Amino acid sequence: MKRQKLHFYDLHSTRDEFASDVISGLSRRPATIPPKYFYDARGSELFDAITRLPEYYLTRTEIKILYDNADDIARYIGSGSLLVEPGGGSCAKVRILLEGLKPQAYIPMDISKEHLHVATQELATLFPWLEIHATCTDYSREMRLPPTVPRGTRVAFFPGSSIGNFDPIQAIDFLKALTQLIGPESYLLIGIDLKKNRSVLESAYDDSAKVTAQFNLNLLSRINHEFSANFNLDLWQHRALYNEELGRIEMHLVSTCEQSITLNNTLFHFSRGETIHTENSYKYTDEEFIHLANEAGFQSEAIWSDPEKLFSVHLFRS
Ligand SMILES: C[S@@+](CC[C@H](N)C(=O)[O-])C[C@H]1O[C@@H](n2cnc3c(N)ncnc32)[C@H](O)[C@@H]1O
Repeated sequence: MKRQKLHFYDLHSTRDEFASDVISGLSRRPATIPPKYFYDARGSELFDAITRLPEYYLTRTEIKILYDNADDIARYIGSGSLLVEPGGGSCAKVRILLEGLKPQAYIPMDISKEHLHVATQELATLFPWLEIHATCTDYSREMRLPPTVPRGTRVAFFPGSSIGNFDPIQAIDFLKALTQLIGPESYLLIGIDLKKNRSVLESAYDDSAKVTAQFNLNLLSRINHEFSANFNLDLWQHRALYNEELGRIEMHLVSTCEQSITLNNTLFHFSRGETIHTENSYKYTDEEFIHLANEAGFQSEAIWSDPEKLFSVHLFRS
């Protein structure tokens, strides 16, 4: 009998947390909502559309770095590992590494349940030999592997510069939690978006086709949907700016007029020009990032980059 190779675990329940995070975030000034809430099914689809935009150099540059260096990466890591990917999304980038690494199992962990289902079913069709333990979880709250995962050297793969969504202190805490998950003598392969010219950065997060604007505004649609709130999307505008002092792109939703929003019987007032801060994407130099990873207990093994130094992929050892 053929053994089942794709397993799905739901270790996450979102609804109550989402409501309380949104209510406390909208009560603050400036208002903030954590970026993990972008990713309902529509948000995940919109993110995939962003990765194909001409202005969004990040995905195509990282993919090229991974393709060009897949053999070298496999030489460092060896075969038969357990490949863990927090925020695996569409599980697209890992495909580049699978033939070289021949992992014993692949464990994508993502908050976006339906999207993870579809992505891992597609992956299982493309790589029928691969054992997949797809895990729906919130990695910012808890880092846990399903109990059935086999033993072996663990490799954490964290592409997409998703580490930039944490501020540097949170990033160190997240990396420390990752070292607990993968244990000693393990690897971390991580994508870093490098500091660069403001206009390149700002257009990557504010594209001319307005897909990133839709992605940002979808957060309000999701809140309307899930909590019968009454955000009028026509009264909010997407804004992305590079805060050079803090080395981060900030995404905001700007209220274009005086307005009130009702959510779960709570009233929120916004003046014209007030914002909801929805995401940070920190940018690093290679040296800054190595320093940060050292603080979390990782040692640098290798760095691969593109000729224009837009993006880099780092390999660390725990
Ligand atoms: C910026 S996308 C990156 C996707 C993919 N790793 C890539 O490099 O293209 C972030 C991914 O992480 C997931 N994600 C964001 N916050 C998360 C959290 N706190 N816990 C688990 N998954 C999360 C999202 O659902 C999404 O798939």
